[in-house]
Amino acid sequence: MIRPFENPIYITRPFLPPLKDFCRGLEAIWENRWLTNNGPIVQRFTQELSNFLETDNICLFNNGTLALQIALQGMGISGEVITTPFTFVATTHALFWNKIRPVFVDIEPDYYTVDPEKVEAAITPWTTAILAVHVYGNPCKLDALADIARRHNLRLIYDAAHAFGTKVGNKPIAHFGDLSMFSFHSTKLFHSIEGGMLTFREAGLNDVFHYLKNFGFKNEVEVVMPGTNAKMNEMQALMGMQVLNYLGEIIKKRARITDLYRNRLKEVPGIRLVPLLSSEIRSNHAYMPIEVDEQEFGMSRDALYEKLKEWNVFTRRYFYPLICDYACYRSIPVNDSLTVARRVADRILTLPIYDSLELSDVEAICEIIQHLQRKIVGEPIVSCVASPL
Ligand SMILES: Cc1ncc(COP(=O)(O)O)c(C=O)c1O
Repeated sequence: MIRPFENPIYITRPFLPPLKDFCRGLEAIWENRWLTNNGPIVQRFTQELSNFLETDNICLFNNGTLALQIALQGMGISGEVITTPFTFVATTHALFWNKIRPVFVDIEPDYYTVDPEKVEAAITPWTTAILAVHVYGNPCKLDALADIARRHNLRLIYDAAHAFGTKVGNKPIAHFGDLSMFSFHSTKLFHSIEGGMLTFREAGLNDVFHYLKNFGFKNEVEVVMPGTNAKMNEMQALMGMQVLNYLGEIIKKRARITDLYRNRLKEVPGIRLVPLLSSEIRSNHAYMPIEVDEQEFGMSRDALYEKLKEWNVFTRRYFYPLICDYACYRSIPVNDSLTVARRVADRILTLPIYDSLELSDVEAICEIIQHLQRKIVGEPIVSCVASPL
């Protein structure tokens, strides 16, 4: 008999370094009493990230949303920006706060990133940039987008909130486009409790971003632009620095979880998995998305989402609804039919994935999904994993 999990299995659980190591780091902070304002740990964390990502052009922030807002402000982006409606709402909010009009276009059906053909078709004389998202940490169509940006003289900005740790041909994903924003929120596989980072091509932006995240201060007496307060603090940097030491292990464990999910779910009728990535891409395994085809599976995505809760499994409809369907963005005209994005938003479900998730729990989650599917179509349940209870 399969039974519900005794304790809830949530969509994610943050990785935490050993408590004694974190406390040792806190003791150092207590000793020098430097809590924020570009303290020594933020400086060290910046250097370590710079080594890890092989770039000097990096700037840390208190979260990814403000990092993206500041990126757009610092780069002087205005007018219209072509973007995706299949993302977390912060992508669009960052445009809104800069008084930029988002132009939503459709996504491609494999990895759910913005469709380059649709991007090109949406360019107008007012377009200044493309804001694309590496959805679930999987790279966008990098070459096609770079080509469009070059031919039309547009800036190419990546919301890489999900993509820390992803590599393309051994190059960190941070090296693509004019700029990338990464989120270090606790729900991400790499985190600094809350946090964000920009990586960028033009070294000249370094000063601008530093001014903007610190009220526009150039020095004690000069405020050179209307900045905000978006500085990372020492506790955040301490967490980030310690989690960075475990990144390789975290990704390896997630890879094993992904493989197991894929093996167990690939033949379940009505479940679609994203295609395997090309061998040159090293995924960070940030999320485990499935698409649920109501006809074939016998139950809608929403019904499965609700049913799984009864088994103490908490999944997420990520991303649903589309950004252009939220009340605050509904009035923005959308010319694209968004056929793929609408279909995916209605079918997508992301399953629990985090480094401390036991493989036996993954087996059990897959058994529950199979059980629900078979129960609907009336087939006998042939095998069951050991009860998680
Ligand atoms: C695609 C995307 N963009 C932006 C953000 C915002 O990042 P943060 O939560 O660090 O502000 C997130 C965070 O979840 C995200 O998933």
